Amino acid sequence: MKLRLDEVDSTNEYAKRLIADGWSSEELSVVTAQYQTAGKGRRGRQWVSPPGTSLILSMFFKAGVDNDKCPMITLLAALAVRDALAGFGIKTDIKWPNDIIIDGRKICGILTEAIPDKEYLIVGIGINLTCDAWPEELADKATSVFMATGECIDEDALLDAIMEAMEGYLKDFRENGDLSGLVDTYNEALVSVGRQVTVENPQGAYDGICEGINSKGEMLVRGEDGEVTTVYAGEVSVQGVYGYDKEK
Ligand code: BTN
Repeated sequence: MKLRLDEVDSTNEYAKRLIADGWSSEELSVVTAQYQTAGKGRRGRQWVSPPGTSLILSMFFKAGVDNDKCPMITLLAALAVRDALAGFGIKTDIKWPNDIIIDGRKICGILTEAIPDKEYLIVGIGINLTCDAWPEELADKATSVFMATGECIDEDALLDAIMEAMEGYLKDFRENGDLSGLVDTYNEALVSVGRQVTVENPQGAYDGICEGINSKGEMLVRGEDGEVTTVYAGEVSVQGVYGYDKEK
């Protein structure tokens, strides 16, 4: 099912209501909107985009995987968006786990939410296509496809390409039960491989060199003592990305 709305609070919330009302399908379904009045970002943040400037969508589907594997689905969505944009000649990188960036600035965010009692997953995606003005605090962190490349992409065609790519990645994931078939593909897309990163988690912050992800989607970081730690959550800043620069 493909459902198009003009305005909604949040496409993720809309999908949640559909599922709570008994929606059921074996297919990958999607709801899109031109504008969200209460768009949600990760970590309780807002996601704001002026009307008609973004591709805003939430894909939803029967998860078919254990709850603890759900965070990995987010990484699949990042790959699907990257592939879809590549089909239009737009080259992007991924900032772990799921930001899509061009020249170190974010063009796309992904928010995955699980509905465990219904065994559904909702993958919300916002892609800045034509937006050209940002609040001051985002000015050196965000961009849009048009600002970065001068390209205008057909939204419907991009949506179809994302859905098709996601179906392929979900198939691989379900066959393997993890990301083992996709680690190399993801690491090729990952902007931080071989670069200095700062990991911030509730225990504190530490620096290291990113060595890519493992088959669970965790980021491997080699610290100054040579020890490799796996990062499964937390903020990771990458040197040269979003205005972060250790030399400053
Ligand atoms: C992030 O913080 O980077 C994630 C942003 C996710 C935004 C998308 S837009 C479509 C969907 N609906 C929402 O309310 N949020 C997601």
